Amino acid sequence: MPVNSGAEPLTAVARLLACPECRDDMAVRDRSLACARGHSFDLARQGYVSLLTGASTKMSGDTAAMLDARAAFQGSGRFAPIADALVTAATAAAPPRTLLEIGSGTGYYLAAVLDAAPDAHGIALDVAKPAARRAARAHPRAASILADAWRPLPLRDATMTHVLSVFAPRNPEEVARVLTPEGRFVVVTPTPNHLAELIEPLRMVRVDEAKDDRLAESLSARFELVDRAPVEYPMPLGHNDIRNVAGMGPSAHHEAAERDERIAGLPEIVRVTASVTVSTYRPR
Ligand SMILES: C[S@@+](CC[C@H](N)C(=O)[O-])C[C@H]1O[C@@H](n2cnc3c(N)ncnc32)[C@H](O)[C@@H]1O
Ligand SMILES: [Zn+2]
Repeated sequence: MPVNSGAEPLTAVARLLACPECRDDMAVRDRSLACARGHSFDLARQGYVSLLTGASTKMSGDTAAMLDARAAFQGSGRFAPIADALVTAATAAAPPRTLLEIGSGTGYYLAAVLDAAPDAHGIALDVAKPAARRAARAHPRAASILADAWRPLPLRDATMTHVLSVFAPRNPEEVARVLTPEGRFVVVTPTPNHLAELIEPLRMVRVDEAKDDRLAESLSARFELVDRAPVEYPMPLGHNDIRNVAGMGPSAHHEAAERDERIAGLPEIVRVTASVTVSTYRPR
């Protein structure tokens, strides 16, 4: 993956950003992002800019260990069919020009869509520093921003042709505000079959059966469902893959040592199901 200083992709999207303190327009000056009223945010050495403000909640997001596990698993290509389905959904109407991924983690999915949309510029937004660092290296046309998805997004109104949320938080009011009227919101959620073979043996968190319905309901005030694509396939996983896939999830915080023991007791190769729904919405 190409490495950039972060300044170039940030310059390309600066006109889309809103100051998190005063909502004013922003511009890149030297290695910082600043509004006309003098609020200024430095570009970190690792290529991301923090637009977290004092008012941000105490969200910390994923840990460095979870990000490492996620990057290793995504690097194995086993979620490539999910990325492909996301790209198909995101490019189905008009080609993306300005893309935001909320809770972008490594930036893997944003990078996949940017690869398929040569004229697009992307913004990776995550509340976790280890994620922001990785996303800054995800794609030459992706800027990386540290921000809390549950706060007003640091973006101007009607600036994004596409917003993505993949296994990540959604903030319907704010997504509706930043999308263009013709824009698309593409959401990937796990189904109850996702990684089901590992849930029992590794005591992982189970996906709630009603998740798709709840998603539609939570978005229905602002969005209309355009398309819903199921993606389900088997992945033959070895112990190392299983360690990564378990380590990237929300059960990573506890019982890591115990989990390794449980993994050691599994067959050498386990056939694990990947199962998600890719939902495409347009603003009402
Ligand atoms: C399950 S991970 C998915 C990451 C990425 N979309 C992927 O699939 O590889 C969820 C991500 O959401 C981020 N996150 C959690 N709460 C957040 C918040 N309030 N604002 C922004 N990002 C958040 C986490 O740090 C994490 O990177
Ligand atoms: Zn300002």
